[in-house]
Amino acid sequence: MSLKTVEWKNNSVIMIDQTKLPNTLEFVTYTDFNQIAEAIRTLVVRGAPAIGVSGAFGLALAALQSDATEKDELMSYLKNAKKILFETRPTAVNLAWGLDKIIQVANQADTVDEIRNDVVEASKKMAEDDIQSNMSMGKIGSELFDDNDTIMTHCNAGALATVGYGTALGVIRAAKESGKNIKVIATETRPVQQGSRLTAFELKHDGIDVSLIPDTAVGYTMANDLVNKIVVGADRILRTGHVYNKIGTYQVATMAKQHNIPFYVAAPLSTFDMKSNPQDVIIEQRKASEVTGIGDKKTAPDGINVINPAFDMTPPELISGIITEKGIAKPSFEDSIKKLFEAN
Ligand code: MRU
Repeated sequence: MSLKTVEWKNNSVIMIDQTKLPNTLEFVTYTDFNQIAEAIRTLVVRGAPAIGVSGAFGLALAALQSDATEKDELMSYLKNAKKILFETRPTAVNLAWGLDKIIQVANQADTVDEIRNDVVEASKKMAEDDIQSNMSMGKIGSELFDDNDTIMTHCNAGALATVGYGTALGVIRAAKESGKNIKVIATETRPVQQGSRLTAFELKHDGIDVSLIPDTAVGYTMANDLVNKIVVGADRILRTGHVYNKIGTYQVATMAKQHNIPFYVAAPLSTFDMKSNPQDVIIEQRKASEVTGIGDKKTAPDGINVINPAFDMTPPELISGIITEKGIAKPSFEDSIKKLFEAN
Protein backbone atom coordinates (compact mmCIF):
# COMPACT_ATOMS: atom_id res chain seq x y z
CA MET A 1 0.00 0.00 0.00
CA SER A 2 1.30 3.47 -0.86
CA LEU A 3 1.53 6.23 1.75
CA LYS A 4 -1.60 7.70 3.38
CA THR A 5 -1.20 11.46 3.42
CA VAL A 6 -4.07 12.55 5.63
CA GLU A 7 -6.32 10.51 7.88
CA TRP A 8 -9.08 10.93 10.48
CA LYS A 9 -8.41 8.95 13.68
CA ASN A 10 -9.97 9.28 17.15
CA ASN A 11 -11.45 12.72 16.46
CA SER A 12 -8.16 14.09 15.24
CA VAL A 13 -6.42 14.53 11.91
CA ILE A 14 -3.11 12.80 11.23
CA MET A 15 -0.92 14.01 8.39
CA ILE A 16 2.49 13.25 6.98
CA ASP A 17 4.59 16.40 7.50
CA GLN A 18 5.69 16.86 3.88
CA THR A 19 8.10 19.66 4.79
CA LYS A 20 10.28 17.02 6.49
CA LEU A 21 10.49 14.73 3.44
CA PRO A 22 12.59 13.09 2.16
CA ASN A 23 14.82 13.17 5.25
CA THR A 24 12.29 11.94 7.80
CA LEU A 25 8.83 10.41 7.55
CA GLU A 26 7.09 12.23 10.39
CA PHE A 27 3.38 12.33 11.25
CA VAL A 28 1.63 15.27 12.92
CA THR A 29 -1.68 15.17 14.81
CA TYR A 30 -4.12 18.09 14.82
CA THR A 31 -7.27 18.69 16.87
CA ASP A 32 -7.91 22.35 15.97
CA PHE A 33 -9.04 23.63 12.56
CA ASN A 34 -6.60 26.56 12.85
CA GLN A 35 -3.75 24.04 12.88
CA ILE A 36 -5.10 22.55 9.65
CA ALA A 37 -5.21 26.02 8.08
CA GLU A 38 -1.60 26.60 9.10
CA ALA A 39 -0.61 23.14 7.76
CA ILE A 40 -2.14 23.98 4.35
CA ARG A 41 -0.51 27.43 4.30
CA THR A 42 2.96 26.08 5.15
CA LEU A 43 2.80 23.04 2.80
CA VAL A 44 2.80 20.43 5.58
CA VAL A 45 0.00 19.11 3.38
CA ARG A 46 -0.22 20.15 -0.28
CA GLY A 47 -1.53 18.94 -3.63
CA ALA A 48 -5.04 19.84 -4.77
CA PRO A 49 -7.01 16.72 -3.67
CA ALA A 50 -5.11 16.46 -0.36
CA ILE A 51 -5.90 20.05 0.59
CA GLY A 52 -9.55 19.53 -0.44
CA VAL A 53 -9.89 16.64 2.01
CA SER A 54 -7.81 18.46 4.65
CA GLY A 55 -10.17 21.45 4.44
CA ALA A 56 -13.12 19.08 4.95
CA PHE A 57 -11.40 17.49 7.96
CA GLY A 58 -10.70 21.03 9.24
CA LEU A 59 -14.43 21.75 9.23
CA ALA A 60 -15.11 18.43 10.98
CA LEU A 61 -12.65 19.44 13.72
CA ALA A 62 -14.32 22.87 13.92
CA ALA A 63 -17.71 21.20 14.46
CA LEU A 64 -16.25 19.20 17.37
CA GLN A 65 -14.36 22.19 18.80
CA SER A 66 -17.34 24.52 18.92
CA ASP A 67 -19.40 24.47 22.14
CA ALA A 68 -22.51 25.68 20.29
CA THR A 69 -25.81 24.26 21.50
CA GLU A 70 -28.00 25.67 18.70
CA LYS A 71 -27.79 24.96 14.97
CA ASP A 72 -27.48 28.67 14.01
CA GLU A 73 -24.60 29.18 16.42
CA LEU A 74 -22.76 26.10 15.12
CA MET A 75 -23.34 27.11 11.48
CA SER A 76 -21.84 30.54 12.05
CA TYR A 77 -18.81 28.93 13.77
CA LEU A 78 -18.42 26.61 10.75
CA LYS A 79 -18.74 29.46 8.26
CA ASN A 80 -16.00 31.38 10.02
CA ALA A 81 -13.79 28.26 10.04
CA LYS A 82 -14.54 27.80 6.33
CA LYS A 83 -13.37 31.36 5.60
CA ILE A 84 -10.10 30.82 7.48
CA LEU A 85 -9.47 27.49 5.72
CA PHE A 86 -10.46 28.87 2.30
CA GLU A 87 -8.05 31.80 2.52
CA THR A 88 -5.00 29.56 2.98
CA ARG A 89 -4.31 28.90 -0.72
CA PRO A 90 -6.15 30.42 -3.69
CA THR A 91 -5.46 28.33 -6.83
CA ALA A 92 -6.46 24.69 -6.24
CA VAL A 93 -10.23 24.50 -6.63
CA ASN A 94 -10.52 21.27 -4.61
CA LEU A 95 -10.23 23.28 -1.39
CA ALA A 96 -13.40 25.29 -2.10
CA TRP A 97 -15.06 22.10 -3.39
CA GLY A 98 -14.32 20.17 -0.16
CA LEU A 99 -15.37 23.05 2.11
CA ASP A 100 -18.63 23.67 0.21
CA LYS A 101 -19.58 19.99 0.36
CA ILE A 102 -19.18 19.89 4.14
CA ILE A 103 -21.12 23.13 4.67
CA GLN A 104 -23.96 21.64 2.56
CA VAL A 105 -23.97 18.50 4.73
CA ALA A 106 -24.08 20.64 7.89
CA ASN A 107 -26.93 22.76 6.49
CA GLN A 108 -29.03 19.66 5.84
CA ALA A 109 -28.83 18.38 9.43
CA ASP A 110 -31.33 19.48 12.08
CA THR A 111 -29.55 19.41 15.42
CA VAL A 112 -26.01 20.20 16.57
CA ASP A 113 -25.42 16.53 17.38
CA GLU A 114 -26.51 15.54 13.88
CA ILE A 115 -24.28 18.20 12.33
CA ARG A 116 -21.25 16.99 14.30
CA ASN A 117 -21.88 13.37 13.37
CA ASP A 118 -22.69 14.07 9.71
CA VAL A 119 -19.73 16.33 8.93
CA VAL A 120 -17.29 13.86 10.48
CA GLU A 121 -18.81 10.99 8.48
CA ALA A 122 -18.95 13.04 5.25
CA SER A 123 -15.31 14.12 5.50
CA LYS A 124 -14.20 10.52 6.21
CA LYS A 125 -16.18 9.40 3.15
CA MET A 126 -14.58 12.14 1.04
CA ALA A 127 -11.16 10.75 2.01
CA GLU A 128 -12.18 7.18 1.09
CA ASP A 129 -13.72 8.35 -2.19
CA ASP A 130 -10.51 10.15 -3.09
CA ILE A 131 -8.55 6.89 -3.03
CA GLN A 132 -11.26 5.07 -4.99
CA SER A 133 -11.45 7.75 -7.68
CA ASN A 134 -7.67 7.80 -8.02
CA MET A 135 -7.69 4.04 -8.52
CA SER A 136 -10.42 4.31 -11.18
CA MET A 137 -8.52 7.15 -12.88
CA GLY A 138 -5.38 5.05 -12.77
CA LYS A 139 -7.06 2.09 -14.44
CA ILE A 140 -8.64 4.26 -17.15
CA GLY A 141 -5.45 6.25 -17.78
CA SER A 142 -3.11 3.25 -17.79
CA GLU A 143 -4.48 2.25 -21.22
CA LEU A 144 -2.68 5.27 -22.71
CA PHE A 145 0.72 3.91 -21.71
CA ASP A 146 2.70 1.11 -23.33
CA ASP A 147 5.18 -1.50 -22.20
CA ASN A 148 8.68 0.05 -21.89
CA ASP A 149 7.41 3.64 -21.82
CA THR A 150 9.45 6.23 -19.96
CA ILE A 151 7.00 8.75 -18.54
CA MET A 152 7.93 12.24 -17.43
CA THR A 153 6.05 13.90 -14.58
CA HIS A 154 6.34 17.35 -13.02
CA CYS A 155 5.79 18.35 -9.38
CA ASN A 156 4.13 15.73 -7.18
CA ALA A 157 0.74 14.41 -8.18
CA GLY A 158 1.13 11.23 -6.21
CA ALA A 159 -0.13 9.60 -3.04
CA LEU A 160 1.34 12.59 -1.20
CA ALA A 161 -0.81 15.07 -3.16
CA THR A 162 -4.00 13.08 -2.50
CA VAL A 163 -5.21 10.87 0.33
CA GLY A 164 -3.48 7.92 -1.32
CA TYR A 165 -2.48 6.34 -4.68
CA GLY A 166 -2.28 9.66 -6.58
CA THR A 167 -3.56 11.14 -9.82
CA ALA A 168 -0.67 11.33 -12.33
CA LEU A 169 1.37 8.89 -10.26
CA GLY A 170 -1.78 6.77 -9.79
CA VAL A 171 -1.93 6.35 -13.57
CA ILE A 172 1.75 5.37 -13.57
CA ARG A 173 1.15 2.93 -10.68
CA ALA A 174 -1.80 1.35 -12.49
CA ALA A 175 0.19 0.98 -15.73
CA LYS A 176 2.90 -0.78 -13.76
CA GLU A 177 0.41 -2.94 -11.84
CA SER A 178 -1.05 -4.06 -15.19
CA GLY A 179 2.33 -5.68 -15.94
CA LYS A 180 3.92 -2.99 -18.13
CA ASN A 181 7.55 -2.13 -17.71
CA ILE A 182 7.40 1.58 -16.89
CA LYS A 183 10.16 4.01 -16.02
CA VAL A 184 9.66 7.53 -14.71
CA ILE A 185 11.56 10.78 -15.13
CA ALA A 186 10.74 13.25 -12.36
CA THR A 187 11.61 16.93 -12.65
CA GLU A 188 13.01 18.40 -9.45
CA THR A 189 10.34 21.15 -9.64
CA ARG A 190 11.91 24.30 -8.29
CA PRO A 191 11.48 26.30 -6.13
CA VAL A 192 10.54 23.96 -3.27
CA GLN A 193 11.48 20.70 -4.98
CA GLN A 194 8.14 18.90 -4.87
CA GLY A 195 9.57 16.59 -7.54
CA SER A 196 12.85 15.65 -5.92
CA ARG A 197 11.67 15.75 -2.31
CA LEU A 198 8.28 14.10 -2.84
CA THR A 199 7.86 12.34 -6.21
CA ALA A 200 11.32 10.78 -6.16
CA PHE A 201 10.83 9.79 -2.50
CA GLU A 202 7.39 8.30 -3.08
CA LEU A 203 8.28 6.32 -6.22
CA LYS A 204 11.49 5.02 -4.69
CA HIS A 205 9.55 4.05 -1.53
CA ASP A 206 7.18 2.02 -3.75
CA GLY A 207 9.94 0.41 -5.83
CA ILE A 208 9.15 2.23 -9.10
CA ASP A 209 12.14 2.99 -11.38
CA VAL A 210 12.62 6.77 -11.23
CA SER A 211 15.33 9.14 -12.47
CA LEU A 212 15.53 12.70 -11.27
CA ILE A 213 16.38 15.58 -13.61
CA PRO A 214 16.89 19.29 -13.04
CA ASP A 215 14.00 21.31 -14.48
CA THR A 216 16.43 22.71 -17.02
CA ALA A 217 17.01 19.21 -18.51
CA VAL A 218 13.42 18.80 -19.76
CA GLY A 219 14.39 19.86 -23.31
CA TYR A 220 17.52 17.71 -23.29
CA THR A 221 15.69 14.52 -22.27
CA MET A 222 13.00 15.06 -24.89
CA ALA A 223 15.45 15.95 -27.67
CA ASN A 224 17.45 12.80 -26.87
CA ASP A 225 14.43 10.47 -27.01
CA LEU A 226 14.57 9.67 -23.32
CA VAL A 227 10.83 10.37 -22.80
CA ASN A 228 7.83 8.73 -24.52
CA LYS A 229 4.93 10.36 -22.71
CA ILE A 230 4.16 12.93 -20.03
CA VAL A 231 1.54 12.91 -17.31
CA VAL A 232 0.99 15.64 -14.72
CA GLY A 233 -1.71 16.52 -12.19
CA ALA A 234 -3.77 19.71 -11.96
CA ASP A 235 -4.90 22.25 -9.39
CA ARG A 236 -7.75 23.60 -11.48
CA ILE A 237 -9.14 22.77 -14.93
CA LEU A 238 -11.56 25.12 -16.65
CA ARG A 239 -14.47 23.98 -18.84
CA THR A 240 -12.38 25.06 -21.84
CA GLY A 241 -9.53 22.67 -20.93
CA HIS A 242 -7.15 25.33 -19.57
CA VAL A 243 -5.06 23.54 -16.94
CA TYR A 244 -3.54 25.23 -13.89
CA ASN A 245 -0.74 23.24 -12.33
CA LYS A 246 2.62 23.69 -10.61
CA ILE A 247 4.84 26.37 -12.09
CA GLY A 248 6.84 24.96 -14.98
CA THR A 249 4.08 22.71 -16.32
CA TYR A 250 3.52 25.13 -19.22
CA GLN A 251 7.19 24.87 -20.19
CA VAL A 252 7.07 21.06 -20.10
CA ALA A 253 3.91 21.05 -22.27
CA THR A 254 5.38 23.50 -24.78
CA MET A 255 8.55 21.46 -25.07
CA ALA A 256 6.45 18.28 -25.48
CA LYS A 257 4.59 19.87 -28.40
CA GLN A 258 7.92 20.79 -30.02
CA HIS A 259 9.02 17.14 -29.78
CA ASN A 260 5.65 15.52 -30.63
CA ILE A 261 5.40 13.81 -27.25
CA PRO A 262 1.87 13.19 -25.89
CA PHE A 263 1.14 15.40 -22.86
CA TYR A 264 -1.59 14.12 -20.51
CA VAL A 265 -3.21 15.59 -17.41
CA ALA A 266 -4.78 13.37 -14.72
CA ALA A 267 -7.28 14.89 -12.27
CA PRO A 268 -10.57 14.01 -10.57
CA LEU A 269 -13.81 15.84 -11.46
CA SER A 270 -13.43 17.76 -8.17
CA THR A 271 -10.52 19.65 -9.81
CA PHE A 272 -12.75 21.08 -12.57
CA ASP A 273 -14.01 24.62 -12.23
CA MET A 274 -16.87 24.84 -14.71
CA LYS A 275 -17.71 28.47 -13.88
CA SER A 276 -14.51 30.53 -14.05
CA ASN A 277 -12.70 32.04 -17.01
CA PRO A 278 -8.89 32.33 -17.16
CA GLN A 279 -8.96 35.96 -15.99
CA ASP A 280 -10.81 34.90 -12.77
CA VAL A 281 -8.18 32.43 -11.58
CA ILE A 282 -5.83 33.71 -8.89
CA ILE A 283 -2.28 32.46 -9.23
CA GLU A 284 -0.73 32.12 -5.79
CA GLN A 285 2.45 34.13 -5.31
CA ARG A 286 4.79 32.69 -2.70
CA LYS A 287 7.57 34.20 -0.65
CA ALA A 288 10.87 35.33 -2.15
CA SER A 289 12.95 33.18 0.18
CA GLU A 290 11.82 30.05 -1.71
CA VAL A 291 13.81 31.37 -4.67
CA THR A 292 16.69 33.20 -2.99
CA GLY A 293 17.91 30.13 -1.14
CA ILE A 294 17.88 26.36 -1.03
CA GLY A 295 17.10 25.22 2.49
CA ASP A 296 19.16 27.44 4.80
CA LYS A 297 21.71 28.26 2.11
CA LYS A 298 21.42 31.67 0.47
CA THR A 299 21.78 31.52 -3.33
CA ALA A 300 20.93 35.11 -4.34
CA PRO A 301 22.04 38.59 -3.28
CA ASP A 302 20.20 40.35 -0.44
CA GLY A 303 17.38 42.63 -1.55
CA ILE A 304 16.96 41.11 -5.02
CA ASN A 305 13.50 41.44 -6.61
CA VAL A 306 11.80 38.06 -7.00
CA ILE A 307 8.80 36.83 -9.00
CA ASN A 308 7.62 33.55 -7.49
CA PRO A 309 4.28 32.30 -8.88
CA ALA A 310 3.33 28.83 -7.60
CA PHE A 311 1.29 27.83 -10.66
CA ASP A 312 0.99 28.45 -14.38
CA MET A 313 -1.66 27.82 -17.02
CA THR A 314 -1.25 25.31 -19.84
CA PRO A 315 -3.57 26.08 -22.76
CA PRO A 316 -5.75 23.29 -24.20
CA GLU A 317 -3.92 23.16 -27.54
CA LEU A 318 -0.86 21.68 -25.80
CA ILE A 319 -2.81 18.87 -24.11
CA SER A 320 -3.40 15.42 -25.66
CA GLY A 321 -5.96 14.22 -23.11
CA ILE A 322 -7.35 14.80 -19.61
CA ILE A 323 -7.73 11.58 -17.61
CA THR A 324 -10.49 11.53 -14.98
CA GLU A 325 -12.14 8.84 -12.84
CA LYS A 326 -15.08 8.93 -15.29
CA GLY A 327 -13.20 8.71 -18.59
CA ILE A 328 -10.69 10.54 -20.76
CA ALA A 329 -11.51 13.93 -22.26
CA LYS A 330 -9.88 14.48 -25.64
CA PRO A 331 -9.71 17.63 -27.79
CA SER A 332 -11.84 19.55 -28.37
CA PHE A 333 -12.09 19.85 -24.61
CA GLU A 334 -15.09 22.14 -24.31
CA ASP A 335 -17.26 19.35 -25.77
CA SER A 336 -15.58 16.35 -24.21
CA ILE A 337 -15.49 17.88 -20.69
CA LYS A 338 -19.16 18.85 -20.98
CA LYS A 339 -20.00 15.26 -21.96
CA LEU A 340 -18.07 13.86 -18.97
CA PHE A 341 -20.10 16.04 -16.60
CA GLU A 342 -23.41 15.33 -18.34
CA ALA A 343 -22.79 11.58 -18.06
CA ASN A 344 -22.28 11.98 -14.29
O1 MRU B 1 2.09 23.78 -4.38
P1 MRU B 1 1.59 22.36 -4.39
O2 MRU B 1 2.63 21.37 -3.99
O3 MRU B 1 0.29 22.21 -3.63
O4 MRU B 1 1.25 22.09 -5.92
C1 MRU B 1 0.78 20.82 -6.26
C2 MRU B 1 0.61 20.63 -7.70
O5 MRU B 1 0.75 21.52 -8.51
C3 MRU B 1 0.13 19.27 -8.13
O6 MRU B 1 0.67 18.92 -9.36
C4 MRU B 1 -1.40 19.33 -8.24
O7 MRU B 1 -1.96 19.79 -7.06
C5 MRU B 1 -1.98 18.03 -8.59
S1 MRU B 1 -1.99 16.98 -7.22
C6 MRU B 1 -2.75 15.54 -7.52
